[in-house]
Amino acid sequence: MEGNGIVLQEGEQYEPCWLRYEKVEGYYQNLSLFSNIVVKGASPVFHSAVEELSRGISSILGIQPKVVKSVEKSGFILLGTIDDEEVKHRFSSLREFRQMNKEGYTIQSISFNGELSIYLVGKTDKGVLYAVFHFLRLLQMKKDIDHLSIFENPKNQLRMINHWDNMDGSIERGYAGRSIFFKDYQFIKNGNRIKDYARLLSSVGINGVVINNVNVHEAETKLITEEFLSDVAKIADIFRAYGIQTFLSINYASPIQIGGLSTADPLDSSVQQWWKSTVERIYQHIPDFGGFLVKADSEFRPGPFTYNRNHAEGANMLAKALQPFGGIVIWRCFVYNCQQDWRDRSTDRAKAAYDHFKPLDGQFHNNVVLQIKNGPMDFQVREPVSPLFGAMPKTNQMMEFQITQEYTGQQKHLCYLIPQWKEVLEFDTYAKGKGSQVKKVVDGSLYDYQYSGIAAVSNIGDDPNWTGHTLAQANLYGYGRLAWNPDLSAEEITNEWVLLTFGDDPEVVEQVSQMLLDSWRIYENYTAPLGVGWMVNPGHHYGPNVDGYEYSPWGTYHYADRYGIGVDRTVRTGTGFTAQYFPENAEMYESIESCPDELLLFFHHVPYTHRLKSGETVIQHIYNTHFEGVEQAKQLRERWKRLKGKIDEKRYRDVLERLNIQVEHAKEWRDVINTYFYRKSGIGDKYNRTIYK
Ligand code: GCU
Repeated sequence: MEGNGIVLQEGEQYEPCWLRYEKVEGYYQNLSLFSNIVVKGASPVFHSAVEELSRGISSILGIQPKVVKSVEKSGFILLGTIDDEEVKHRFSSLREFRQMNKEGYTIQSISFNGELSIYLVGKTDKGVLYAVFHFLRLLQMKKDIDHLSIFENPKNQLRMINHWDNMDGSIERGYAGRSIFFKDYQFIKNGNRIKDYARLLSSVGINGVVINNVNVHEAETKLITEEFLSDVAKIADIFRAYGIQTFLSINYASPIQIGGLSTADPLDSSVQQWWKSTVERIYQHIPDFGGFLVKADSEFRPGPFTYNRNHAEGANMLAKALQPFGGIVIWRCFVYNCQQDWRDRSTDRAKAAYDHFKPLDGQFHNNVVLQIKNGPMDFQVREPVSPLFGAMPKTNQMMEFQITQEYTGQQKHLCYLIPQWKEVLEFDTYAKGKGSQVKKVVDGSLYDYQYSGIAAVSNIGDDPNWTGHTLAQANLYGYGRLAWNPDLSAEEITNEWVLLTFGDDPEVVEQVSQMLLDSWRIYENYTAPLGVGWMVNPGHHYGPNVDGYEYSPWGTYHYADRYGIGVDRTVRTGTGFTAQYFPENAEMYESIESCPDELLLFFHHVPYTHRLKSGETVIQHIYNTHFEGVEQAKQLRERWKRLKGKIDEKRYRDVLERLNIQVEHAKEWRDVINTYFYRKSGIGDKYNRTIYK
């Protein structure tokens, strides 16, 4: 397949990712329906749907479809909503049809007199657009379209992307170039790339975007002022046409910083009035504005604590201002005191979110939703699930994942995160007894939340391939697919992505899928062992440094000494963190016997000679996995090399370059980690492999 890039400006190209629409030859026989698109609607979203379908069909099949408003002859593709008479007449007797949710859709094949027609029907225009993307996916993957009867409803209501973009154009934890929204403290005026980004997101069902960093600096604080609102509105227009709502991160101290007030106290009436008029102004510019994302009282961000108010008081004040317009407050639970001296063994960063929020259950307004990181610490390669999930029956909750690979190789290393997210979503919290998986908390069904869903921190930037590492596109794709339907398996999602991105050569599909599916565990093998996490260089968080992490200069994130390693988080002798889980999980983690090996050092401090369930000692496990991890990284490279000639040169070389870096850096990880623990423990490798000392 040769680079089907989208030309931006002369000389500048970026990749279409999984929306390549490569030509499919000789597969579809009955082509007449493709030249006849019947469109029963006229909104901007409908317009996007028609445009996308025409583009896809002409590119995949080489046919320029004619777009008409009503059925003129048999053999057509019809785009309509369930309110359309023709659609109602045909499908309203179907049970699933009547049960479609707000964003649901159906795809139906019908033959009249031997002529095939396809109906792409949404409950609303958004559903129509999703149906179009789904249908094009089927065409690109050469699926049979003669007998389609598909009903789809997104499982999660909020399916969001959080950008950590700053107005100077930089991206916090961004590994794929600069922002596509901002440059030099202004908005980038070229909307083409944002439109193509909206297409990518919409194609996997994303319906909300926060365009600026949760750390809101001085410049971004002004995004909610007249100076910038018309620019935000232009972006919102682009996203809206793809069914995506725009949100902003706000600075809790805005009333002081841009409002001229002396306080940001949420209970102060002048502060309340200020937010009310600010929100009114925003909705004048953006009538369907989604709401605010707020990081408060964490890592030096201002918040209600300054005024001795709690998070509920802080969030509710904003919620009241947004309520009349249907807006929501997404309040992050990543709250901990990063300056705390963790050497006091009764404190534990892992406990912070639960300690802060659990007591406030029931106090938040119903248009507030708490956004909780998947783990209690911070996006490590291996962490347990945050115990806050399921612990607040009366408070809306949603998930936060990190697509950008801050702690998982920064898009230099291949680390496909779908298997990790699957594990998280499938984790049983036991909140309402067996079967209370995290996915049921965040889809709102366990406690009947009014708002809930999943958000993830973006991994894109203005790099020509969007994500730095070409294969990191799969994390964005897979995230969207999982947010739509957490029941999809990692294998299904991977298979789709590879087919859409690299075509259907069986060798390519097999090798690339396997590379992706193995990569998370490989990365885990050569980095921090057994759930202990961290061990990264301070600040940028790349590369090995066992005692490096900036908020743990005392080694309290692993407690390695000459006898052992791990953080005792038990109730019996440690920080008591395990008690935050429901009893089944609390017991499992509390006991060394039942704690899974992969999280052993997260929950327990053990001697290096402690035997794992695998039969190996902890120290030998560390050596084994680190030697093995490097070999596995080399195998990733070998697998890729087998595909030379089967993938276009550009992408082949780009990925190979990254795999070379990965192998070299994996060696560094291996050597730094093995040496550190050899020196600490004084215990050698039983196989006498070389440890650089
Ligand atoms: C991590 C990350 C920060 C980020 C923070 C957050 O600590 O390193 O860059 O701001 O998470 O999620 O708020």
